[in-house]
Amino acid sequence: MAHNERLITDGVYWIGGNDRRLSVFEGVYPSERGVSYNSYLALDEKNVLLDTVDKAVGGVFFENLEFLLKGKSLDYAIIHHMEPDHSACLAELLLRYPALTVVCTEKSAAMIGQFFNFQAGAGGGAERAPRIRIVKEGDTLSSGRRTYTFAEAPMVHWPEVMVSYESYDRILYSADAFGSFGAIDGNLFADEADYAGVWLDDARRYYTNIVGKYGPQVLAALDKIAPLDIAMICPLHGLVWRKNLNFFLEKYRRWASYTPEDNTVLIAYSSVYGNTENAVNVLAAALADRGVKKITVYDVSATRSDVIVSEVFRCSHVVFAATTYNAGIFIKMDEALNDIKAHQIRDRTAAFIENGSWAPVSGKLMRELVSALPGWKILGDTVTINSSLKEAGRPSIEKLADTIAADLPRAPAPVHEKNAVDIPAFFKLSYGLFLLTVRDGEKDNGCIINTAVQLTDTPKRITISVIKANYTDEIIRKTGIFNVSVLSADTPFKVFRHFGFQSGRTADKFAGPLDPKGPGPARSANGLIYAPVYGNAFISGKVIDSKDWGTHTLYVAEVTEAAVLSNEPSVTYQYYADHIKPKPPASAAKKKGWVCKVCGYIHEGEELPPDFVCPICNHGADAFEKLG
Ligand code: FEO
Repeated sequence: MAHNERLITDGVYWIGGNDRRLSVFEGVYPSERGVSYNSYLALDEKNVLLDTVDKAVGGVFFENLEFLLKGKSLDYAIIHHMEPDHSACLAELLLRYPALTVVCTEKSAAMIGQFFNFQAGAGGGAERAPRIRIVKEGDTLSSGRRTYTFAEAPMVHWPEVMVSYESYDRILYSADAFGSFGAIDGNLFADEADYAGVWLDDARRYYTNIVGKYGPQVLAALDKIAPLDIAMICPLHGLVWRKNLNFFLEKYRRWASYTPEDNTVLIAYSSVYGNTENAVNVLAAALADRGVKKITVYDVSATRSDVIVSEVFRCSHVVFAATTYNAGIFIKMDEALNDIKAHQIRDRTAAFIENGSWAPVSGKLMRELVSALPGWKILGDTVTINSSLKEAGRPSIEKLADTIAADLPRAPAPVHEKNAVDIPAFFKLSYGLFLLTVRDGEKDNGCIINTAVQLTDTPKRITISVIKANYTDEIIRKTGIFNVSVLSADTPFKVFRHFGFQSGRTADKFAGPLDPKGPGPARSANGLIYAPVYGNAFISGKVIDSKDWGTHTLYVAEVTEAAVLSNEPSVTYQYYADHIKPKPPASAAKKKGWVCKVCGYIHEGEELPPDFVCPICNHGADAFEKLG
C-alpha cells in the first residue's frame, strides 16, 4: 500500500485515511460523502503522534507513519479522544513502538484499560502495559521546538476528551470539535467556498448530532481557546481550517448556545397520501408571500432525522405537520421529534398541523412532546385537517402564516436621530488596514492605519492620515518618509495587536521576529522596513505637504517606490471586524460595564467617564457601549 501523508506545515503531517464505503457512521449517521479519520504526526527532537485512526484505515495509517519516521523513534502519542474511530489502532501502535509514551487524561488512561486490557499486570501481562503520562488542564509537553499545552474538554464528545494547543505552529488539535463528515477528496485545507457549501452543512450535521447535546460544555471549551492565537485547527474528522477561523468559531458559539443561525421557518411533515404535504406547501407559499426568506420543507419519510436535527439547530421556527397513525404520531415524525428531544435542542418556536380522517390526535401529542423541551415556545392553535385541505380550510393556514411571520424577529430598523453621528456608520467605509513603517535614526517603528489613498496618478501621489499622538507621526514629521504596507486578509490578529495596541515609545516593535517562520524584515530603497509579514504590497512615500487636523496629521506624499508582494486579497476593515478581531468570550456577556466597539476592551463599572480613552485602541467614550 502506498503512503499518502499530507504536509500541513514544516514537519507536521496529516497521516489519516478516508473511508468512502462506510454507509452509516457510528451505525446511525449516513455518510454519503464518506468520512475521514485524521491523525497527525509532528517530527521534532521527539516525534509526536496526535491520535490514531479507525481500524478501517489502519493499513494506510501505519504505512504513512513508518514512511515518515524512516526508522526513527516514535516518542509520544497524544490521545485526545478514546472513541474507537480515533483510538482503535492504539493497541497495535503500542506493540509496534513499545518505547512509546502515551499522553492522555486520567479518564483516557482508564478507557485504554477498558478497551484494550492493557493496564499493568492485567490481560496481556505487565510487559504489555503502555507507558502513560497523565496530563491535566494546563500541563505542557515539549518535543523540542514545539510545546503542547493541554486543556480538558469533557463531553466534547466523551468525558475523557482534551484538546491541545501547539504554540510553535499555533495549531489547535481540537479532537472531535470542528470536525465534519466527508472524506478528504484531495484538498485537505478548507477553502473560502467550504465555509458556505457542503462542508459547512456536514460540519453542522456532525456537530449537532454528535456533540449537540453538550452545548454548555462546548461553550466552556470555546472560552478556554478564545485567548489563543490560532493559525490552524486540526480536527479528527474532515478538513483542516486555517482561514477565516472566527467564522467557524462563531458558528460553534451559536450551535453550542442553541442560537439559531437563521430567523426562518423549517417545516417538517409526514404525509402518507400527499394531503398533509399539500397543506404544508400552501403554508410555505403563504410564508414566502409574507416575506419570510430561506424557508425549508422536509418530508420526514424521505429526510433522515439527523438532517432534521441539524436544520432545527439552524432555524428559529419549526412547523411540525403530521398525520395521525395508529392513534399516535406518524412513526417517522415520532422518530424525528424524539431525536430532537434526545439532543435537548433549546429555545425554538414551534407550530403544528395535524391530519386525521376520523380521530386526529397527532397535533395534541406533538404539542405535548415539544412543550416539554427546554425553552421552546408554542405558537397559535394546532391546525387540524380532516383528510385533505379544502378552500374552506385555507384561512386557518393563512392565519398560521400570519402568526409565524409576525413572530419572526426582524432586523431592527436603524434608528437615526437627525444630525447624530453614528460611529458604526464609519465602519461601513470600505477602507483597508495598513502597516505604516518609519525609522527614527537606528530605531524602526510602525503602526496600523486605515487611511491610505491614491491622490493623483501622474505623478503618483498618495495621502495618509496618522494619529498625532503616535510615535510614528512624530517620526514622519522629523524624517518626511514612510512606507505603507497593504495588509492581506490572512493577517492574524496578533499583527494588529503588536503594531496597533502598543506604543513605539515604550516598546521596540521590531525587536524580534513577529513570526519566526515569516520572511522577516526587508527594506525598500529609502531604508525603511516594509511588510515584515502579511503584506501583499508596499508603497514608499516622501512627504510633500502636510496639514494638522487636531487629532490627526494628513500627509500628501509622492511615491518613490511600490511593489506587489503577494496575490493574497487585501484586508478591509469590515473583514477585520467580522473575521480577524477576536469575539469576546461568553463569560464577557456576564460582565457589567462598557465595551469598546472598536477593539473589544471592557471597562468594568457602572459609569464611563465622558473623557475616557480606551487603553487599547485610544478611541474615546463615544466608541463604547454598555454591556447587558
Ligand atoms: Fe470522532 Fe467522538 O469520535
